[in-house]
Amino acid sequence: MIHQPIAVFDSGLGGLTVLRALRDRLPQEDFFYFADTRFLPYGDRSEAFLRERGVRIAEALARRGAKALVIACNTATAAAAEAIRAASPLPVVALEPGVKPAAALTGKGVIGVLATTRTLASERFRRLVGNHASHLEVITQACPGLAEAIETEGPDSQLVESLLDGFVAPLAAAEADVVVLGCTHYPWVAAAIERRMAAGTRLLDTGEPVARQLARLLDADGLLGGGSGALTVATSGAPARVAATVDRLWGQHLPVEHWEP
Ligand code: DGL
Repeated sequence: MIHQPIAVFDSGLGGLTVLRALRDRLPQEDFFYFADTRFLPYGDRSEAFLRERGVRIAEALARRGAKALVIACNTATAAAAEAIRAASPLPVVALEPGVKPAAALTGKGVIGVLATTRTLASERFRRLVGNHASHLEVITQACPGLAEAIETEGPDSQLVESLLDGFVAPLAAAEADVVVLGCTHYPWVAAAIERRMAAGTRLLDTGEPVARQLARLLDADGLLGGGSGALTVATSGAPARVAATVDRLWGQHLPVEHWEP
């Protein structure tokens, strides 16, 4: 039994949508969730910045005593997963937009992908589409400002609603029957996206497959179990402000501490 937490990080609180799936599948594990809100949004930052920041975070989380690392951010994965894996002594689980399952699900041959500008511009995303969806019509839509608006204004805010009007319209117009939520913030607004699409459109996020992958990895490395379901949330930004947002999104009060990698 290993009494060490699993570290999960994102630019902000999008990764909580992944954390929920992780805790559902692995209720006996302890988690340390790090929101790098000082640098939110990652989606507008350079690959070089994200690589350097991702490696720094991964190294600091290992020093802090984590037993495994989950990159709960598509943007950080797109820019930095290889560098983080190379630098980290820990088992690393990364996530990417669910293009592969979407390709298997679509009946019309049209899938939509909502993600950050950085994710969609990445070589990794280009390869993902090339490998799994080159025979399909793939409508990609960058959503600048959406992750921030979800955090600062709230998922039900007027600003989020009007951003979604613009971002979802091209997917609805192309009659995509599967929409990939390619940023971990977007499951917070899944219902609002669904309302803008034709009835029966499927929305895909990656929380559950990532949880399965983490469980497999921990099992293979003999690292399963040993915790008590404890959860610590930390931010590189202002803890009081982040705590208020966590309460709103998570639906329950969680203390938030300051941590700088
Ligand atoms: N949640 C992040 C993702 O999955 C990115 C949001 C941002 O910081 O731009 O891509």
